[in-house]
Amino acid sequence: MKNYKIAVLKGDGIGPEIVNEAIKVLDVTAEKCGFTVEYEETLLGGCAIDAAGVPLPEETVAKCKAADSTLLGAVGGPKWDTMPGNLRPEKGLLGIRAALGLFANLRPARIFESLRDASPLRADIIGGSLDIMVVRELTGGIYFGERGRLEENGVKAAYDTEKYSVPEIERIARIAFDLAMKRGKKVCSVDKANVLESSRLWRETVTEIAKDYPEVELSYMYVDNCAMQLVRNPSQFDVVLTSNIFGDILSDEASMISGSIGMLASASLGESGSGLYEPIHGSAPDIAGKNIANPLATILSVAMMLKYSLGQPEAADMIERAVSEVLTEVRTPDIWVEGFRKVSCTEMGDEVCARLSK
Ligand code: IPM
Ligand code: MG
Repeated sequence: MKNYKIAVLKGDGIGPEIVNEAIKVLDVTAEKCGFTVEYEETLLGGCAIDAAGVPLPEETVAKCKAADSTLLGAVGGPKWDTMPGNLRPEKGLLGIRAALGLFANLRPARIFESLRDASPLRADIIGGSLDIMVVRELTGGIYFGERGRLEENGVKAAYDTEKYSVPEIERIARIAFDLAMKRGKKVCSVDKANVLESSRLWRETVTEIAKDYPEVELSYMYVDNCAMQLVRNPSQFDVVLTSNIFGDILSDEASMISGSIGMLASASLGESGSGLYEPIHGSAPDIAGKNIANPLATILSVAMMLKYSLGQPEAADMIERAVSEVLTEVRTPDIWVEGFRKVSCTEMGDEVCARLSK
């Protein structure tokens, strides 16, 4: 029987609660589909700072590299907000992305039929269907560019640098085009080429790569316009290809269209294919420990892991179907409306498992 080794980084805040539910679901799925999963827990973020003094211990990187894939909850919280920049939990997250070479971040924003009522957008705006794949560059740009502080004529200043090389743009563009070929065959490359030189190089490079994909329709959009179009006419988008920082912002926006940021999964992929899977939301310290967080984004991240890293697409479909079904009956508080049974985080996990076992 196939056995997979998964590194588990529960992280901070609601991280442990949502990851526990995702593991429950993965175990039931494994049993149904005839494979086994072994988990190796390790530290990242605030909990790693507390236990080991750094947000990303060496051991964590080693365990993730040794695993078939990595599942992450969320990192950060007020307790560590006053730490210096290189000792913040977020630095651990950026560090593990870099250490594992995870340059491609896939963030699908889809609307589950059963969750249409939870979208803040009117039904006529959402239109027939909504299935956007945000492809965000994850190990370059302003997140990793040169930064610093200085003093100019006695005035304090700080700077961060947005820099992209052609190979960095090429490899993320290829991911977007390859995905588009399996989907709606449309790529919208989002930049700020009317202002930024790095965006102009981005556009030129994407245009070149597009020549290898004659079947894919390529369009360009400035990021401010894209932010607007996402709420004006979201169904015009198939694959949205963009930089690290623009992807960070646009994926939060796209997630809300689908009802709740608690619903959006993500996959971070590199050359090795093992990948790291995490919900796109944060550690939500305000609701941590209350058993009210929505575990579905993490559960759906497990589905993405099964599809993109473990070669178990049927298992992934099973989970997605089960999630879609539970939403017709039960909701966590973030997506609850009149007429549905309100459930806790653990109950939501149980409900998904129950649908899987049917
Ligand atoms: C995300 C998060 C992270 C990011 C933070 C926590 C560093 O917002 O994964 O979207 O900006 O990449
Ligand atoms: Mg973000």
